[in-house]
Amino acid sequence: MGTINYSEKIPNNVNLSENRRLQRALEAWQPAYIQWWNDLGPVKSQTQDVYLRTAISADSEGWAHFGHVKMPEYRWGIFLSAPEEDRRISFGDHKGEPVWQEVPGEYRSLIRRLIVVQGDTEPASVEQQRHLGQTCPSLYDLRNLFQVNVEEGRHLWAMVYLLHAHFGRDGREEADMMLERHSGDVDKPRILGAFNEETPDWLSFFMFTFFTDRDGKFQLGALAESSFDPLARTCRFMLKEEAHHMFVGETGISRVVRRSCELMNENKTDDPRKYGGIDLQTIQKYINFHYSVSLDLFGAEISTNAANSFTASVKGRFNEAKLTQDDHQLNDSTYPVLQAVNNSFQFVEVPALNAINEALRDKYSKECESGVERWNRVIEKHGIDFKLTLPHRAFHRQIGEFQDYCVSPDGRQITEKEWDQHKNDWLPSAEDKVYVQSLMTNPVYEPGKYANWVAPPDKTINGVAEDFEYVRFS
Ligand SMILES: [Fe+2]
Ligand SMILES: [Fe+2]
Repeated sequence: MGTINYSEKIPNNVNLSENRRLQRALEAWQPAYIQWWNDLGPVKSQTQDVYLRTAISADSEGWAHFGHVKMPEYRWGIFLSAPEEDRRISFGDHKGEPVWQEVPGEYRSLIRRLIVVQGDTEPASVEQQRHLGQTCPSLYDLRNLFQVNVEEGRHLWAMVYLLHAHFGRDGREEADMMLERHSGDVDKPRILGAFNEETPDWLSFFMFTFFTDRDGKFQLGALAESSFDPLARTCRFMLKEEAHHMFVGETGISRVVRRSCELMNENKTDDPRKYGGIDLQTIQKYINFHYSVSLDLFGAEISTNAANSFTASVKGRFNEAKLTQDDHQLNDSTYPVLQAVNNSFQFVEVPALNAINEALRDKYSKECESGVERWNRVIEKHGIDFKLTLPHRAFHRQIGEFQDYCVSPDGRQITEKEWDQHKNDWLPSAEDKVYVQSLMTNPVYEPGKYANWVAPPDKTINGVAEDFEYVRFS
């Protein structure tokens, strides 16, 4: 385990060649995948040589290899983290039993559904981002976009492998469907709402990789605790890749903030728009939007589905095995969940089992908060009096407890009339979007150069020179 076999058509560390049937089934799916990549992956990118990292080992520190590749030739493969010896189930009804190498019949549809929902988001984000390469602010950013895209493609492979290997004919059908549903398609949309919106500009892309990929991290973290060991090991490896996506988001936003501050200071103005930057107020509106739609991805605050998955030992909490505060079965514990009570919001203790989604969302919010703090330090360092914040968790929600309420970013319940009056102050207006997109009509392809609205990164990728040609056009 660990070394990845690249001599096969499908690189893998699961001894795929020893299971001819499975190998043939996946090799039959492979051309459809490549077709999908060429049709709905990044536009006009097929012949470009992109400086990408590829996994070469699933368990060592130096797991990545860097080199220029054409994306359709990227070695998408199947990589699972090394098995943990004598791994035991850490939560739910099956706590203490050995983990499962095969799917138990009684949980088959539950586990399949979780895999399908997770898997569907992976190609969806590639589809959402497919036009961004045309407007990239630099070759560095273009390369990062493509790295994220190929890895999301690999995450699809990860889920498709599980479907093929463990779910027979239904699994193969589900794998085919992954390439039939498309982001924003009227007839066959992607499963989750947020994955049917286009990612129209780079500010949105950075927000998406910071906020929405981070939802992915927490979902994967919960699935990495699963008693179904192949799923757990698959998700652990995906988490390593996911970390880079969030890095792209966090540093991307930080660079936009920095550039805006520089423009404000250099020109002694409050309005960097006059000098082709993005004003902090607009960045705040993008945060409000992306944070609130990403909160929705965690599902309802009170959820019997989540309780059932937990009790069945199928989906745990984040870092479940390392948690020490309770018995990992949650029979008698409670958890505080914010609810709307008489025109205000109050925490109400509910059975912890029903609040699994909310507990995961709370951890997510905490991490988002630290990102915002780091951006604020950039603003502070420039001596500018402005603070970015996360909006209240009830703000602009479409799912769960708060969906029927109009709520201001600071958490006041307001009337619909007030909402309509202010929503353009709180969420990106049509005009804001047009402005942001107007900054990005032309791509910057010159090595070492950056668009005016974003600062260069602090570090290059893999220590290469600052004017490195991350993407070569031919
Ligand atoms: Fe992913
Ligand atoms: Fe991701």
